[in-house]
Amino acid sequence: MATLSSTHCRSYSPLPSSSYAPSSSSYLCFKLGHRQRVSVSSGSKRFLQAKVSIQSHTNSGGRTHDGAVTTTVAPIENDIPFKKLKDGLLSVSSSDECKDAMTFDINENEPTVSITVVGASGDLAKKKIFPALFALYYEDCLPQQFTIYGYARSKMTDADLRNMVSKTLTCRIDKRENCTEKMEQFLKKCFYHSGQYDSPENFAELDQKLKEHEGGRVSNRLFYLSIPPNIFIDSVRCASLSASSGNGWTRVIVEKPFGRDSESSAALTKALKQYLEEDQIFRIDHYLGKELVENLSVLRFSNLIFEPLWSRQYIRNVQLIFSEDFGTEGRGGYFDNYGIIRDIMQNHLLQILALFAMETPVSLDAEDIRNEKVKVLRSMRPLQLENMVVGQYKSHTKGGVTYPAYTDDKTVPDDSLTPTFAAAALFIDNARWDGVPFLMKAGKALHNKRAEIRVQFRHVPGNLYNQNFGTDLDRATNELVIRVQPDEAIYLKINNKVPGLGMRLDRSNLNLHYAARYSKEIPDAYERLLLDAVEGERRLFIRSDELDAAWALFTPLLKELEEKKIIPEYYPYGSRGPVGAHYLAAKYNVRWGDGVDQ
Ligand code: BG6
Repeated sequence: MATLSSTHCRSYSPLPSSSYAPSSSSYLCFKLGHRQRVSVSSGSKRFLQAKVSIQSHTNSGGRTHDGAVTTTVAPIENDIPFKKLKDGLLSVSSSDECKDAMTFDINENEPTVSITVVGASGDLAKKKIFPALFALYYEDCLPQQFTIYGYARSKMTDADLRNMVSKTLTCRIDKRENCTEKMEQFLKKCFYHSGQYDSPENFAELDQKLKEHEGGRVSNRLFYLSIPPNIFIDSVRCASLSASSGNGWTRVIVEKPFGRDSESSAALTKALKQYLEEDQIFRIDHYLGKELVENLSVLRFSNLIFEPLWSRQYIRNVQLIFSEDFGTEGRGGYFDNYGIIRDIMQNHLLQILALFAMETPVSLDAEDIRNEKVKVLRSMRPLQLENMVVGQYKSHTKGGVTYPAYTDDKTVPDDSLTPTFAAAALFIDNARWDGVPFLMKAGKALHNKRAEIRVQFRHVPGNLYNQNFGTDLDRATNELVIRVQPDEAIYLKINNKVPGLGMRLDRSNLNLHYAARYSKEIPDAYERLLLDAVEGERRLFIRSDELDAAWALFTPLLKELEEKKIIPEYYPYGSRGPVGAHYLAAKYNVRWGDGVDQ
């Protein structure tokens, strides 16, 4: 039975050189149903000189553990094998051809996809998951036959859920016209079932309701666990035993925290695997879904000029910086049990680091990429206390406004030592990165909200212009900045001459500023990741061995911090964080790039 459904909303082709308007791009256009045969041809022969047919047969493809059927592809006109097409994401077809291709026999046996948001009344569901699902619907990215279910303990009706969801939906700025209509259509696809997270009976009731919507078609089911970790296992057990798909795939998206340390994470993985195969588990790290993080590999591997410099030979240090200009407001209860190291560093920043530092993968296939990432993580030195600075924000009054201390949060114990800020120096002991400090900095209640990657290159050896820089050679260092958010940009700091008769040097930015370059709004990370989960694309999800390697790096340090009750350095709410972070960087001859000179 065919289950793959990949829609035309994704464009993988390069933009034509003469035009950068989003509408001119081509679209990947697969839509496979039971016994469907799709002809995908290239709209742009410059990029693909091939025509392929993709067939999905129960007897010709294999079935993965999650019940998804793999497809068999037979090249027709020439010999480009499917793997190559997939790897290179070259299987393009223009949007017109896409429409043509969609006119083939989609029959009523088209598979259905049901997305159940477990923990539907929670903050994440309201703020991120439902809006992302709506955005996908708005962009025609969801399969034709889909249903969304909210599942939570609160007693609500379908109408209550729709009302709740409708409050957080927004429309794409470039297509507001039919927004209300689209919202109404979307909300009609949303339903609610009230149940306990540990009740097989309640999940069986959900199963019945899902079946009614599925109407006997092949049913694919995605469960998004937007719930606290202490009820993960119960929910997975109940969902898997009472509400798995009988004839399609069943997948589960799990949100962090995936444990608190190596042991608890391993226990969680073991418990999950009692009910699910690894390829049914989609461990989400939403930073991997961010546009500029996704762009990292493109930048590295599709430009000649970066990859040759991407090593200890030319790079002096790499900085991964996360800051928020608000405190834990309302999340103190969760946060106090984890702290900033577990909340941001061990996952978001480390994942970016792994992508940044990995070797060239064999292909863009999920396993090839994850294999390379895990190698980086396993080549890293476990963190040591002397390479770590921790801080906690304290109250601060500015302009007549008093900002609270972390411990002013009612859900945080008064004597909490939980870090709300941390800076760390990490090292990758392999041939490419030996000796290069990877500095991480993450904090809440700082002076700005920002996530960025900064790559500081080495000084130019024997620089003819040294005298123009005075003693501060650092200021002359080339720096590549990838600003993940806000106001996405990639810029390279270079030295140039100030125009005029003299010889004064200046620092300038070669700047790719997304808002100026592209009119299209950047999708939210959750949109990309949800679509990937529906399509069975695992590249941006964390495999269990990656998770183990990530915890192995941080667990000894976290234990030491807690056992020794290390007192954090206090910093005022809204400041640049503890001064200790500067000493740590200085120890490795590094100056944080997010200082005054941006
Ligand atoms: C979450 C953390 O994973 O990421 C939060 O738990 C943090 O503490 C959030 O605020 C930041 O995400 P974003 O996408 O807003 O940068």
